[in-house]
Formats: sequence, structure tokens, C-alpha cells
Amino acid sequence: MLPRPFEIRARRPELADCVTLEMAAVDGQPLGFAPGQFTMLYVHGVGEIAISISGDPTASDTLTQTIRSVGAVSNAVCDLQEGQMIGVRGPLGTAWPVERAIDKHLMVVAGGLGLAPTRPIIYWALANRDRLKSIDIVYGTRSPEQILYAQQLLGWSTTDGVRVGVTVDRAGHDWTGRVGLVTDLVPAMLRDPAETVAMVCGPEIMMRFAAQALADAGMPEHDIHVSMERNMKCGIGWCGHCQLGPHLICRDGPVFPYPAVRDLMTVWEL
Ligand SMILES: Cc1cc2nc3c(=O)[nH]c(=O)nc-3n(C[C@H](O)[C@H](O)[C@H](O)COP(=O)(O)OP(=O)(O)OC[C@H]3O[C@@H](n4cnc5c(N)ncnc54)[C@H](O)[C@@H]3O)c2cc1C
Ligand code: FES
Repeated sequence: MLPRPFEIRARRPELADCVTLEMAAVDGQPLGFAPGQFTMLYVHGVGEIAISISGDPTASDTLTQTIRSVGAVSNAVCDLQEGQMIGVRGPLGTAWPVERAIDKHLMVVAGGLGLAPTRPIIYWALANRDRLKSIDIVYGTRSPEQILYAQQLLGWSTTDGVRVGVTVDRAGHDWTGRVGLVTDLVPAMLRDPAETVAMVCGPEIMMRFAAQALADAGMPEHDIHVSMERNMKCGIGWCGHCQLGPHLICRDGPVFPYPAVRDLMTVWEL
């Protein structure tokens, strides 16, 4: 339950309201994590929030997280500067079942800030490229200015065996890329539904429609995985804040096989 002190080693603005922090444990003990896990970040005197780990799982001495400033605690986290301290509990929660993608096509579908929790899968997949048939990254966001990790997406798109599809909801005349919903791009990029494992993360409505589009295109539902978010307090299954039907998301998730949450995702305000 006790947060460990970490020092902010680097702070990188990503979007207008979003920064990436690189942190290191003061005691020198690496955090170690699996793609999909999250931590509880604690700012002294302000509060604690759940944030996904967005770094490379093999670079275990650095904790990398991308945070959007939406309220009191996330504002305080985003305001931290190099050299300042933060409390960290974790890693917590379930992981993306990346090993299931071995000898198959891997499709990562991300919407908006959902690219942050899926980026560790991409690092893992690139490190294990020869064990996968292919890597497809499908990313959708509101506008070109809202594209997260834009330079990295560009770099991945020129990597052998990797395809990147980016789409935005709306754009000015200077945007030469695709405009439209990520759910339209998903079936267009799906190579072989029976031989694909998909990891989907983003706003809940986007995940619902993306998972449905994959299933409609012929993917078995158990090969589709989603990452759920709810307000969290304890992060370890004690307080009940993150309940979703029979699940506590901090303990049983955040990553779930789609069939486990499919019906719950359609219940309004559950
Ligand atoms: C497992 C998990 C992983 C997460 N990963 C990230 C991440 O990588 N980067 C990131 O920026 N955020 C992430 N979040 C969301 C983050 O925890 C919330 O934005 C944060 O708790 C907001 O706290 P606050 O005090 O700043 O704002 P608050 O004042 O608590 O909330 C501000 C607004 O955000 C809404 N809100 C709060 N929490 C959530 C939530 N979990 N989902 C949707 N809306 C919410 C509130 O209803 C309110 O409208 C994650 C949440 C979970 C549960
Ligand atoms: S956050 Fe307390 S039970 Fe999940």
C-alpha cells in the first residue's frame, strides 16, 4: 500500500494537455512490469491516480508514463519538473496477453490516449518481430494535432513487417492523411481474422465498436482483448470504486478478454 519514492528524470510535453514522465526509483530497485499494467501515482498533499505504464518493458530501470491533465491530481502530476519526487505504487493489474500473438498476426487498435497503454505491446512486438507473422497498428484520434507519439508512429510505419494506419475525426486542408473512424480502418487492415490476436484500447465507445468490427470481420471474440478504465482509489481490490459488474478492474483487469466485458460495455453508466 505504501508508495515508493521516484524521481522525475525527464519530462516531455506530448500534446497541449499531456506530458510523458520518465521516473527512476530512489532506492535503485527497478519497478519491472508487463505490458498493460498500471501504477498509482501519488503527489504529496494532492492525491493519487491510476496511470498506465507506457514505456519499454525491457528498460526496467525507467518508469515511463504519459498523463493527460484533466483534474486536480493529473494537473499536479503534469506540473512536476525534473528532479522532483513522486510516489509510485505498483505495478498493478493484469497484462496484455502478448505471448498469444506468437506465430500470429498482431493488431493493436488504439484511440486517443489509448496509444499510451498499448505502446509497451508495440515495444515487445518489435523486439519479438521474428516470432510474429506481422504487426499492424491502427490509430485514431480527434485531429492531427492530437496524434500522440507522432514521430514514433512514423518510425514504426517504415519498419519491416509493420503497418501503421492513422485516421483522424476531422482535419484542415493541410492534412493529407485519412479522415474517418478508426472502426472503418480496422476491417480494412485485418489480414487473416482466424490468425490474428487484437489488443484494443481507447475510449469505451471506440473499444466497443472496434471490437465489434473485428468480430464482424470474422475474428473469434476470445482473440480480442480490451483495457477498461474506471475511477480507482485503492488499486488493489479493497475499496470497490472500480467495480464493473462482477469485476473489480484494478484486480481482475484492466486488460480483459472481450467476451468477459462485452455485455457490460453496452450497459449505460455501469
Ligand atoms: C487502469 C487505468 C489506467 C489509466 N491510464 C491513464 C494514462 O495512461 N494516462 C492518463 O492520462 N490517464 C489514465 N487513466 C485515467 C486517470 O486515472 C484519470 O484521468 C485520473 O484519475 C483523473 O484524476 P484527477 O484527479 O486529475 O481528475 P478528477 O477530478 O478525478 O477527474 C476529472 C475528470 O475526469 C474524469 N475521470 C476521472 N477518472 C477517470 C477515468 N479513469 N476514466 C475516465 N474518466 C475519468 C472524471 O469523471 C472527471 O470528469 C487511467 C485510469 C485507469 C483506471
Ligand atoms: S480501486 Fe479499490 S477495488 Fe479497485
